[in-house]
Amino acid sequence: MDFKQYHQPVLVQSLLNHFNLANDSIVFDGTMGFAGHAEAILSAYPSITYVGFDKDLAAIPIAKQRCAQFSKVQVINAPFSSMFQHVNNVPVLPTHILLDLGVSSFQIDQSNRGFTFQKNEPLDMRMDTNANLTANQVLHDYSHDALVELFETQGDIRGPQKLVEEIISKRQQNKLKTTFDLVDCVKHGFFVRSRRQFISMCTKVFQAIRIEVNGEMNELKEFLDHVLKYSGVTVAIITFQPNEDKYLKAFIKDHGLIRITKKPLQSSYQECKKNPRERTAKLRIFQIQ
Ligand SMILES: C[S@@+](CC[C@H](N)C(=O)[O-])C[C@H]1O[C@@H](n2cnc3c(N)ncnc32)[C@H](O)[C@@H]1O
Repeated sequence: MDFKQYHQPVLVQSLLNHFNLANDSIVFDGTMGFAGHAEAILSAYPSITYVGFDKDLAAIPIAKQRCAQFSKVQVINAPFSSMFQHVNNVPVLPTHILLDLGVSSFQIDQSNRGFTFQKNEPLDMRMDTNANLTANQVLHDYSHDALVELFETQGDIRGPQKLVEEIISKRQQNKLKTTFDLVDCVKHGFFVRSRRQFISMCTKVFQAIRIEVNGEMNELKEFLDHVLKYSGVTVAIITFQPNEDKYLKAFIKDHGLIRITKKPLQSSYQECKKNPRERTAKLRIFQIQ
């Protein structure tokens, strides 16, 4: 099977170069996805123990299949904020933890869950399809002020008031059901000068809702608070949004953690050309003291 059709992992070589793995390492991969990073790491260090987590049930069988040739791999359907609760079952302590945040290309392109503004799909956006909150609920149940705050803080959008008015008007007419209905709100919610600017606004709007639906900032914060207890563990985190990277950078500084990468590692121009997801990716590696 061509696993690359699901997702192309980012910053693979930088991760391998700076993660300081050894043959007896125990890696917890909090965002196993379709095991792109897992396969690269396991191919370089076939004897390591690898425990992967993903909250999307659809990823689990593919990840297992992709790693079937390696003997010490486990894949668990759970959020990474709860990975330390699994330590008793696993039963090993990690030496290394990897988080590759956000969504996979599979979720965007093939899941039919409304992660993309380029296809007309239901307003779902849940990574964990058993979770309660959907994009539809956020858009229909949140107040005017809550939506404004959401777009400002999670989407980095300045002046989202007109967009929120469009959303509220559409929902009152029972006309906000699919991703294209939301795209219509973006169309009328901002003055844009070019197609490029319009796409950028759609990206920010969809991203803000996705972050809310999946509690992405809370997951990261909860994980970081827990990981502080695991002295000696090396942690690699790939972020795609300025908010996440800003939080992570401050966290590392405030807790005096050992920076293995002094600055975040980013992809080269050539890599970004091959895989556009690399453009906003930043990798920070640090060690808990
Ligand atoms: C960018 S993809 C990871 C891709 C993976 N590193 C690879 O190379 O194939 C992110 C994955 O993390 C999962 N995910 C995101 N947030 C999560 C969380 N809080 N807990 C567990 N899985 C999460 C998503 O469902 C998605 O499959």
